[in-house]
Amino acid sequence: MTDHKTEIQSESRLLTVSDLTVSFTTDDGSFIAADSISFHIEKGENVGLVGESGCGKSVTALSIPRLIPSPPGTIESGEIRFDGLDIMSMNSQQLQDIRGRAISMIFQEPLSALSPLHRIGRQMVETLLLHQEMPQKEAWQFAEQWLSKVGIPDAADRMFAYPFQLSGGMQQRIMIAMALMLAPKLIIADEPTTALDVTTQAQVFELIQAMKQKDTSMLLITHDMGVVWEMCERILVMYASQIVESGSREDIFSNPKHPYTIGLLNAIPRLTGGRTELKDIPGQVPSPFDYPKGCHFVKRCAFSMEKCITESPLFYECGNGHRAACFLLSGSSG
Ligand SMILES: Nc1ncnc2c1ncn2[C@@H]1O[C@H](COP(=O)(O)OP(=O)(O)OP(=O)(O)O)[C@@H](O)[C@H]1O
Ligand SMILES: [Mg+2]
Repeated sequence: MTDHKTEIQSESRLLTVSDLTVSFTTDDGSFIAADSISFHIEKGENVGLVGESGCGKSVTALSIPRLIPSPPGTIESGEIRFDGLDIMSMNSQQLQDIRGRAISMIFQEPLSALSPLHRIGRQMVETLLLHQEMPQKEAWQFAEQWLSKVGIPDAADRMFAYPFQLSGGMQQRIMIAMALMLAPKLIIADEPTTALDVTTQAQVFELIQAMKQKDTSMLLITHDMGVVWEMCERILVMYASQIVESGSREDIFSNPKHPYTIGLLNAIPRLTGGRTELKDIPGQVPSPFDYPKGCHFVKRCAFSMEKCITESPLFYECGNGHRAACFLLSGSSG
């Protein structure tokens, strides 16, 4: 029975990250930015990765296609299995094949991904031809169609534009076209709309959702719990280099277990009687040079106990794949 279950799991699973640890070495010393991270993404699933600034969300995401700059970064350990392939053992050619084609990334800052020196059309065609054999002319037409698809008016003309000639929202649409045109299996979207106004943000998310194929998965990184609720079926909550809770969107929002998750949810702006109410989590994320020995959240936690200072909590299963790393749960299960 277990075998059968494993088989079904591996059929539907796109990504499994196990015990991933990433360190950085700087002039001030070394620190761990992602600590024993484990999670998975099913085919077609949208998974949200949330947490305050500096918690290691981008480091975790960049590790998947092995894009951590080295130096200063090092993937110390861990296993990354993507679509049946072992990413950690891939050579640079294999990694290049997979990046952009099977795994594509959408960043907060489109200009960091688009070259300022080249026209949009040329950049799109180069990306296409890097991963797919097709005549140049066909690639140009394909790219132009994608510009239209993502809502760029006068696509034929815009193919000749430089990125700086377009608005931030338009640049982001081009990034999305480039990320999706090769029908990737996994989209990693790291704060894809933070730089945009609220209306454009909503349009961009609608666009990603509409353009991605049904079995394409997404890892969406954001500070915005509202966006996660809209977009994701499952949520990973990260605090100070560690995943502290994960579960279905419903479990995380209606039955959060970790005090940090509860704090994040309380920090969502709510309109009560015409006033916006927002309760920040007291204190700040510690410096990675100064993570506590036990639970990393201990200094900000209203429920901390003696052993939280010295011992790291393991994950407690709360049912339906919902799990949280907090000693408060030690009485409830195992
Ligand atoms: N190239 C780098 N060199 C040195 N330290 C780095 C580098 N990239 C990330 N870090 C450090 O690793 C830690 C985790 O950073 P990361 O960028 O993953 O945070 P984040 O959760 O994505 O934050 P944000 O929400 O602000 O984007 C931080 O302390 C950060 O300063
Ligand atoms: Mg980040």
